[in-house]
Amino acid sequence: MTSIRLWDLPLRAFHWLLVVAVCGSLISIKLGGDWMVWHERFGLATVGLLGFRLTWGFIGSTYARFSVFVPGPRALKSYIQGQWQGIGHNPLGALSVLAMIGLFGFQAVTGLFANDEVSFNGPLYPLISSDLSDTLSGWHRRSEWYLYGLIVLHIGAVMFYTLARKNNLIKPMVTGKVSTSDHRGKSAEGGGIGAFVLALCLSAVLVAFASGELIPPPPAPEAAPQDLGW
Ligand code: HEM
Ligand code: HEM
Repeated sequence: MTSIRLWDLPLRAFHWLLVVAVCGSLISIKLGGDWMVWHERFGLATVGLLGFRLTWGFIGSTYARFSVFVPGPRALKSYIQGQWQGIGHNPLGALSVLAMIGLFGFQAVTGLFANDEVSFNGPLYPLISSDLSDTLSGWHRRSEWYLYGLIVLHIGAVMFYTLARKNNLIKPMVTGKVSTSDHRGKSAEGGGIGAFVLALCLSAVLVAFASGELIPPPPAPEAAPQDLGW
């Protein structure tokens, strides 16, 4: 058995921060009232984290790259037949990773344009019509149970591998290292500081845009005609 580097530090930080942001979004919306501000903050954090992850999927270290773990039909077939051997996300796990990134991304983006029909509008609400905002708010609310379903499935699958298959997936997501007897298994390479700074800058620009800070303010109302007192 040799110990190799599997998940780089930025990917692990992304994962645990995403857990905080998603749980924060779900708890704050249930608390309601003044917690709506926090719902937006956690939602914006989710946008930034997912933006980071999408970039990291191209310029991160080996096992974080989409080109390494997104499975083709052949990999899926061999996994289902019990013949797949590899390191990192297995083909079925990779599909659930893509589903999570997609669904949480969908949730965060629809939230940016949503309204609660009372007093709160998402930061990009001014960019669309109120009818479209109502539609997106409906989708945002209705996807709630899909979010819970995916989270339960994800944690259930991780627990199944760890407890029943005696393949502890949690430890590598904490320490970054995994023990393997596969001699072809190489430590992750790439994803250095330059790539990290680039991904961080891109996600900061995304959050700045998503927060509505870059939307020009509406034009000031025209001054009322002067009363000349005639
Ligand atoms: C900046 C991003 C976000 C904004 C501005 C936002 C905004 C909103 C608004 C305005 C509502 C109320 C809709 C209504 O009641 O009519 C809402 C509901 C909801 N949001 Fe978000 N949201 C964001 C991100 C997220 C994220 C990331 C999640 C979860 C991962 C999430 C989960 C929910 C859920 C589950 C509800 C429905 C709650 C219920 O009806 O009890 N939101 N959000
Ligand atoms: C709201 C809760 C959670 C969300 C949204 C979430 C999301 C994710 C995502 C997106 C990935 C893919 C990582 C990547 O980008 O490559 C992942 C992987 C992983 N998560 Fe979570 N996660 C959650 C909770 C947890 C919990 C509570 C645990 C531990 C018990 C956990 C353990 C793992 C592990 C071990 C992996 C790697 C799986 C593998 O080896 O293929 N997650 N999670």
